[in-house]
Amino acid sequence: MSEEGSWISIAKTTDVEAGKCNPYEHEGHNLLIAQTKNGDFYAVENLCSHADATLEGGRIRGTHIMCPLHGARFSLIDGSFGPPAWAPIKTYECRVEGDDVQVLISGPPEKKARPAMGMI
Ligand code: FES
Repeated sequence: MSEEGSWISIAKTTDVEAGKCNPYEHEGHNLLIAQTKNGDFYAVENLCSHADATLEGGRIRGTHIMCPLHGARFSLIDGSFGPPAWAPIKTYECRVEGDDVQVLISGPPEKKARPAMGMI
């Protein structure tokens, strides 16, 4: 793996239906691969910043995903968020090569500070 990272084949394009998302794991990176209804693929971390719930099962609306637990909305493009989330989620560069969905992985997953439970 170079300093910039390596492109890793995470899924087949046929594994992720249009308008849906699937969870994947690669060397400690918990990933969510989403395909928008217009056929674009995105990769984000599979962890809501509100209360550490996974985002799988979340509805895809345009280029956003809605957390299935309390409905926070995250951009699949840049991870920006709406309430009740309190921080963005990590996004990964993603590309399609042939029938593979590839994600640019660089280094180990980040450890994130989380708010105390009373803050949520
Ligand atoms: S856990 Fe995602 S919005 Fe609350």
